Amino acid sequence: MHKIAVLPGDGTGPEVVNEGLKVMNAAAKVYGFKYETVNFDFGGERYMKTGETLPDAAIEDIKKFDTIYLGAIGHPDVKPGILEVGILLKMRFALDQYINLRPVKLYPGVETPLKDKGPKDIDFVVVRENTGGIYTGLGGVVQKGTPMEIATQVMVYGRPVVERCMKYAYELTRKRNSAKKMLTLVHKCNVLTHCGDLWVRVHKEMGDANYPDIKQDYNHVDACTMWFVKQPEWYDVIVTENLFGDIITDLAAIIQGGLGIAAGGNINPEGVSMFEPMGGSAPKYTGKNVINPLAAISAAGMMLDSLGEEKAARAIDKAVSDVLASGRIKSLAAGRMGMSTSEVGDFVASLVK
Ligand code: IPM
Ligand code: MN
Repeated sequence: MHKIAVLPGDGTGPEVVNEGLKVMNAAAKVYGFKYETVNFDFGGERYMKTGETLPDAAIEDIKKFDTIYLGAIGHPDVKPGILEVGILLKMRFALDQYINLRPVKLYPGVETPLKDKGPKDIDFVVVRENTGGIYTGLGGVVQKGTPMEIATQVMVYGRPVVERCMKYAYELTRKRNSAKKMLTLVHKCNVLTHCGDLWVRVHKEMGDANYPDIKQDYNHVDACTMWFVKQPEWYDVIVTENLFGDIITDLAAIIQGGLGIAAGGNINPEGVSMFEPMGGSAPKYTGKNVINPLAAISAAGMMLDSLGEEKAARAIDKAVSDVLASGRIKSLAAGRMGMSTSEVGDFVASLVK
């Protein structure tokens, strides 16, 4: 029995989560696994009513679950930063979800803004370090508001934090076992001569010692953004530090068709992970049954994979791919799908075999 904490969150979050659970239910019938869900109401509405984002007691509750399924966090009446830091980042740190996993796959039938690129060219995974670097929050401000104000926010990396991320990335590269079998480190070691150099050495040392079957490759992050556009087919698995990963995964989302299709996981391989669609809470579409649920459905698939239900996960991925290949969804954009949110969910669920 898998115990799943569900955080539908704000805006269209609850609508897309419904469709993800619908598809998961279909997969459970076919593959014979059991699960139970418990809902938590964290998000902007609750914050406005109670002033609470994610209380410590809730974290202790959530730790008792096997996994977390998140809809969206973000509310137009809450100042930016409060919910992001108070819920998303707090969860990542409290549960030590040290990997941000972002598959980047262009499904057949999906339009990419890249000229002359198709599904065979865009199929890679980004492993973003998810708790360290600038996100650690070390730094401060002095003489605030004066002409001499100084602010710092430091990139912090300890070797164990780099090593556990690197190990995850190498293992994933081996498991993917693609024809390229290559792990590209993305950093900026020509300028970040301390942090970058640490990543470069860990990449090489670990690869040489334990992963002789895997090719080692390196890109500076600025160059990587050019290659994503010019030659995405180069990549198999990318490993990178937190902030660079944040930036390049948004670029990656747009080349795979946009936020309507991009899913991700905040993963603690030894603990409780959290899976989510990358798109936001889309307040203006709330309650209209027009938002695209495919990213949330893919996130549910990733969640099942992490729970050991690999066949069910593959079946969901195939169903999403078949739905898109059918050409019956006119656009991935909200309100332009030519189908409602729940119809898309029904369609995917019907193809889970
Ligand atoms: C993401 C988001 C978050 C991040 C924000 C909302 C804190 O952009 O998951 O990529 O910066 O990591
Ligand atoms: Mn981001």
